[in-house]
Amino acid sequence: MTNTELQTRFQEVFKSEADALFFSPGRINLIGEHTDYNGGHVFPAAITLGTYGAASKRTDTICRFYSENFSDLGIIEIDLNQLVFAKEDNWTNYAKGVIKFLKEAGHDIPYGFDLYVNGNIPNGSGLSSSASLELLVGIVCEKLFDLQLERLDLVKIGKQTENQFIGVNSGIMDQFAIGLGADKKAIYLDTNSLEYELVPLDLGHYQIVIMNTNKRRELADSKYNERRSECEAALEELQTKLVIDSLGAIDNETFDQYAYLIKDSNRLKRARHAVSENQRTLEALKALQAGELDKFGRLINASHVSLEHDYQVTGIELDTLVHSAWEQDGVLGARMTGAGFGGCAIAIVEKEKVQSFKEAIEAKYLDVIGYKPGFYIAEVAQGSYVL
Ligand code: GLA
Repeated sequence: MTNTELQTRFQEVFKSEADALFFSPGRINLIGEHTDYNGGHVFPAAITLGTYGAASKRTDTICRFYSENFSDLGIIEIDLNQLVFAKEDNWTNYAKGVIKFLKEAGHDIPYGFDLYVNGNIPNGSGLSSSASLELLVGIVCEKLFDLQLERLDLVKIGKQTENQFIGVNSGIMDQFAIGLGADKKAIYLDTNSLEYELVPLDLGHYQIVIMNTNKRRELADSKYNERRSECEAALEELQTKLVIDSLGAIDNETFDQYAYLIKDSNRLKRARHAVSENQRTLEALKALQAGELDKFGRLINASHVSLEHDYQVTGIELDTLVHSAWEQDGVLGARMTGAGFGGCAIAIVEKEKVQSFKEAIEAKYLDVIGYKPGFYIAEVAQGSYVL
């Protein structure tokens, strides 16, 4: 969407001019899935699909929010003195959470504001439309009220909103990728220390294709929290003999040696994924930096296998996309991306073969699932910014 379109839509909705325009990306994750709340590594990247915003400051304490993605809800009004979760306030709860935690952290937000939002990340697609919105609201407040914020503070406030306001016990990956992403670079992040490295994503004549199952991530939040608890329980069992503070602290060998301590086969599988996925992520960084793209692709495939069988967060839709991607010519690797249970997968495909790739996957998916998948080319881009 162009700046003029954004400004025009703001004027149509709020009958005044926007003070500033904003963009906040979505994200994909190359590898390192369900490792961020296990103290492991992740390797995501911000993408050019994302959320546009236009905002202007008011002189009272009212915020008026309008989203083109939820246009049937019209303008939703909230008061800065009433920042509590309310189901009927729908998507604006994310905004309320961010404002509440910014204020709690001591930032002065004396007035409300009007905010127009228009996102092109499909909702529930696993490309982090919610973290994109959280960071968008964060930079809107930063700009309108001239807040002195480190980007990492905003990232943490986004996560806090997800955890304490929305009730999803997510890790920090999504907000981190969206807040700190850089053009043509992936982010290699140690979620334990929050040390990170921006890694040039040089895929030669390959492109990342996002494949959308078009299945909403139903049950995703409750299943997500369940996986997290299973990992915590497995960690406690390991801690009876090992001095570690997360599953990310051990390698595969150590895990094998102490796996007998885990008394339940589901917990064993969950923990094995967390440990092995972290190791794969370390190896994937090395492979990418050494230009060993074939190896990088094989690690991506192995990640999916582990998510399918050990972590069990894929489902028939994601598996159909990924398994048929593996069968195509010119595919380096493919896997689900994000939380799973529906949402999107990624495939690294030779540029010249992208068209035939899409056709083959679509035919197969339609045949097995009964409706079509969606496709987007992922362009790796910069984190949230003022336009
Ligand atoms: C969701 C969460 C992230 C991360 C992924 C799985 O996107 O928000 O914190 O746990 O799932 O890797």
